[in-house]
Amino acid sequence: MSHLSDTDPVIADIIEKERIRQRDGLELIASENLVSRAVLEAMGSIMTNKYAEGYPGKRYYGGCEFHDMAENLARDRLKELFGAEHANVQPHSGTQANMAVYFAFMNLGDTLMSMKLSQGGHLSHGSPVSFTGKFYRVAQYGVDEKTEMLDYGVVGEMAKKEKPKILVCGASAYPRTIDFKAFQEIADDVGAYCMADIAHIAGLCATGVHPNSVNVVNFTTTTTHKTLRGPRGGAIMCNAEYGPQVDKAVFPGMQGGPLMHTITAKAVCFKEALRPSFKDYNRQVVKNARAMAEVFIDEGLRVVSGGTDNHLILLDLTDLGITGLEAENVLGEAHITVNKNTIPKESRSPFVTSGLRVGTPAVTTRGMKEEQMRIIGEYICTILKDINDSSAVKKIGEEVREMATKYPLYPE
Ligand SMILES: Cc1ncc(COP(=O)(O)O)c(C=O)c1O
Repeated sequence: MSHLSDTDPVIADIIEKERIRQRDGLELIASENLVSRAVLEAMGSIMTNKYAEGYPGKRYYGGCEFHDMAENLARDRLKELFGAEHANVQPHSGTQANMAVYFAFMNLGDTLMSMKLSQGGHLSHGSPVSFTGKFYRVAQYGVDEKTEMLDYGVVGEMAKKEKPKILVCGASAYPRTIDFKAFQEIADDVGAYCMADIAHIAGLCATGVHPNSVNVVNFTTTTTHKTLRGPRGGAIMCNAEYGPQVDKAVFPGMQGGPLMHTITAKAVCFKEALRPSFKDYNRQVVKNARAMAEVFIDEGLRVVSGGTDNHLILLDLTDLGITGLEAENVLGEAHITVNKNTIPKESRSPFVTSGLRVGTPAVTTRGMKEEQMRIIGEYICTILKDINDSSAVKKIGEEVREMATKYPLYPE
């Protein structure tokens, strides 16, 4: 019997149920991944017991010598991974990483310019329901109506008019390559800072599968748990000159004690990401997304922007006469986990949506390749074309379970 099942069998049972859900289903949520046993071990370690407010060599508590070692390793490995001069690995999440950059370089009421949430942006980029929309004046660009891709000319014109203090690029649901150099040039032209939020594509950027934003834009923020395949958390990278301001904004600016078990697990994740196999993994993530997008297109589904350059595909379900919510629910019944998503020119609420976001990071971690993506793509098309065919949903659900057992989560 484990300590947990002994002490708290109710929670142990919940965790076991979730383990089985992850084991038996296909995780196609673009922002999720499956961490290694080593990352899990570090996260569940005694490093959680310590208060280590401050930074390595300058803590507010005694007994931090081993925490200094872990945090220094995390910072050094992250810098090596992206070629960054300065790294802060303390943000508890991607939102906090963004918050720190805003706090460091903007005053309340300054203008933040970013991508619209409904067209791919993130809540922490200026949504009225986030602190960002309350603290700052927000101007937002979208994608081109026809191509459904960024139009840098339009962004540039908008920046001239709006004069942002920080121009944000990066997204949660944009399937195309982002030209970080073009964004920095636009920012330079109007005297703004440029921040790239690479939360989704960090693994791709670290391995050259997508252009890297570090040393191209002023600040790069990221989560560590998406394509980077680490523990849930955030990080910030920038040139050395901005380092002290960034560090002060994170602590004491907006956080207290760092999550040292998570920082230790970040160090483990960054070491894994420095291996050549991590490049192969990220290449495969994109190949898999492309293979699945081809199936959707061949089957007549409308793929937003006509394809993908990264780890995700955005589907417009309007022609199928179903909503994103309905699609998410019915695919869930077949053990295929996806999320409803707004699409450009969205007419429905974010709780219903006309679109679906499908991502390949987690299934690629399980070892699946293009052949499996084509099968999964066909499953999705069959279900979405007739969401009322419950026998097809049941049959596909059984096949999904069988497929999942061939690609175990934690084989050892
Ligand atoms: C582009 C982008 N930035 C920031 C975040 C926020 O990360 P977190 O949920 O860790 O706050 C996300 C999360 O999905 C994201 O997609």
